[in-house]
Amino acid sequence: MEEAAPTLSPQEARRHYQANADKQDAQAWYEDEAFRVLIACSDFALANDVLEAGCGTGRLAEILLRDHLPSNARYTGIDIAPAMLARAGKRLAHFAPQVTLKPGDVTLGLTAGTAALDRVIATYLFDLLSPAHSRNLIGEFHRILRPDGLLCLTSLAPETSDGDTTILTQIWRLVQRRWPWAVGGCRPVELRPLLDDKIWKLVAHETVSPRGLTSEILVARKVRSDGTDGNHQH
Ligand SMILES: C[S@@+](CC[C@H](N)C(=O)[O-])C[C@H]1O[C@@H](n2cnc3c(N)ncnc32)[C@H](O)[C@@H]1O
Repeated sequence: MEEAAPTLSPQEARRHYQANADKQDAQAWYEDEAFRVLIACSDFALANDVLEAGCGTGRLAEILLRDHLPSNARYTGIDIAPAMLARAGKRLAHFAPQVTLKPGDVTLGLTAGTAALDRVIATYLFDLLSPAHSRNLIGEFHRILRPDGLLCLTSLAPETSDGDTTILTQIWRLVQRRWPWAVGGCRPVELRPLLDDKIWKLVAHETVSPRGLTSEILVARKVRSDGTDGNHQH
């Protein structure tokens, strides 16, 4: 049986991302295409309350606030590394009235109220969380989303939608197993198995592989308590 890939503890992740916040934006070469697909599938123009877990330097938030969210929408970003939040604060200064940035470890639960948000986002966060932390966080996302609200995720993925594993993804996985710090602890993970189809309705699920590194994009709607997904066609 293949050995499970090592994961960073939240304390290790904090130390790593605190020390390497200045390098985070260099990941744009593989993140940007996934962001583009995620945005295209997530109806941000209809969102009022958005929470992003592991918001990093606020790169996605800036795109959303500038080009997609209504001008009265509220955005909250949480990150475990204060240096990330400091960068996000500078980047998002122009949108300050709409923005709240909070330090926090999302593996300990979220302080947002039940059914308080209409979008929750996590990009390249699940690839560094342990399987148990990932399951708990998905549960928390479900709790804080309103019925019909959207879960918007992207992570590094082991395979493309066609079932191919690219050479770069294979190399990345080998490096992560041997030197997890070299890739910020991020390993290719599957997001789809985290969702229980009784409480989530899949809206979009695809992969992109810019320059040969595969990411999975998954958007899912919180099913209402009556079992409908609230997305009726009239
Ligand atoms: C790979 S970076 C991705 C940043 C950003 N979402 C992006 O796509 O560019 C992971 C981010 O998650 C944050 N993070 C890691 N573990 C966390 C935790 N337990 N709670 C909150 N943030 C965490 C890190 O500090 C870092 O900013």
